[in-house]
Amino acid sequence: MKITLQRRYRFSASHLYRRPEWDEAENRARFGKCANLPGHGHNYRLYVSVTGEVDPVTGFVVDLGRLDALVQEHVVEPLDHQHLNVAVLEFREGGAIPSSENLVLWIHGQLADRLPPGIRLDKLRLEEDEDLAAEWTA
Ligand code: NI
Repeated sequence: MKITLQRRYRFSASHLYRRPEWDEAENRARFGKCANLPGHGHNYRLYVSVTGEVDPVTGFVVDLGRLDALVQEHVVEPLDHQHLNVAVLEFREGGAIPSSENLVLWIHGQLADRLPPGIRLDKLRLEEDEDLAAEWTA
């Protein structure tokens, strides 16, 4: 019997939506206020869901301290209080737009192959505010 455990993490970061190959009018038309220089910030909430068997001895699906350390090192630490367009190579000028969709994909890349054995990454839900969230589902 497999059980899914969900843990919430928080970080704050700023971002800017701009395509350098587009002129000002095109950036404004496509990205609206998200194209305003130098950018704006969000208090992100990341929900990480992992699935596995419950260990009969500990009663846990995953060692929470180990999961926390992993997410801290590979997601929170690189992103918290950073400008995503500068801090993350993939989001630098001319690269991917640091939308919630692309950010959740980046987070997936950071975590997917690092989980302890026997644990499956099931879902990542990234909320950038009360009204908008992006999800990756296995
Ligand atoms: Ni934004």
